[in-house]
Amino acid sequence: MKWLSHRAERQFPSSPARISPRQQRRNARYGKRMAWIGTQYHRLSMPLSVVFLFSSRRFHPQYGMNWRRKWALSLRLYRNWRNVRTGISYKGHLAIAAKLLEIPPSVKGAVVECGCWLGGTTTNLSVICDIVGRDLIVYDSFEGLPAPVAADNMKPEVKGAFCGPIDVVRENVRRYGVLERCTFRKGWFKDTLPHHTEPIVLCFIDVDLKSSMHDCLVNLWPHLTDQGYVFFDEYTHLHNCALFFSERFWHDYLDTTPPGLMGSGTGVGVGQYCLGPWPDGTPAIQRPTSLAYTRKGFNGRWDYVPDEAGQSAPTERRV
Ligand SMILES: C[S@@+](CC[C@H](N)C(=O)[O-])C[C@H]1O[C@@H](n2cnc3c(N)ncnc32)[C@H](O)[C@@H]1O
Repeated sequence: MKWLSHRAERQFPSSPARISPRQQRRNARYGKRMAWIGTQYHRLSMPLSVVFLFSSRRFHPQYGMNWRRKWALSLRLYRNWRNVRTGISYKGHLAIAAKLLEIPPSVKGAVVECGCWLGGTTTNLSVICDIVGRDLIVYDSFEGLPAPVAADNMKPEVKGAFCGPIDVVRENVRRYGVLERCTFRKGWFKDTLPHHTEPIVLCFIDVDLKSSMHDCLVNLWPHLTDQGYVFFDEYTHLHNCALFFSERFWHDYLDTTPPGLMGSGTGVGVGQYCLGPWPDGTPAIQRPTSLAYTRKGFNGRWDYVPDEAGQSAPTERRV
């Protein structure tokens, strides 16, 4: 989750805060005001988000998504999003729904979520899965983050952060989603993911640590169907986005070229107001809360080399 480094700093400050009580009160008032404006923004922009993201001719006709059903789904997703805490925006949930509604039912495969915390996204994924007739497989430790390794570049204190006990997640999904669609696989990714067998049409990864992202991609990408999607939360940190453009990673671990990442970079996410870079001095009202995604078959490789331009192989056409 993008605000982890911020949050961890608040929970485990490296140096004692040196701001006066007056300044603290001001900050608190400012935070509340911005949160209120944020809530109003989401509420007011909700209908337009639905119109923009659900006006698609690519939704498969077999799902029968006329506008009455689209509004019913949107309202349910919105209410759930308000009811169960999650770091993913409502628009992010709509974007995932839109992509799942495009995939033809003839393409077999499950939806996989890696990192569910309290089940805020799980709940909405289960609702969407029920419409498109797919299973939802949820991987998590249900004990929060593991201890970071050195290359994660995180404080050891983040261990255990975002702990969502499995009973809490199940109860949230039971109350607001479709529990029957879900299978929960508890454990550390390095132990559980290598045993994954089912084809995947869409995988949602929100796991904070580089080591966890690595485990998710290395183990699950090979199960992704042709043109299957990977949605990714950590899109505001350039070094995390770099994973999707790293020729070394994709060559060494997955024997392919990097797929790139849509909506990535400094947080100019779909319909959001973040200008980045995150988190340096970003006003609270510009908090980045969207998602990025890639798709099997995308190609994010830079292949123009001036000296070799005359001889290089034909490049992929822009799509
Ligand atoms: C930021 S939270 C996920 C938030 C959630 N996607 C949402 O929408 O609210 C990160 C989750 O990843 C899980 N996680 C991270 N690394 C893991 C690992 N190596 N093995 C198992 N679970 C892990 C944590 O337990 C936590 O639930």
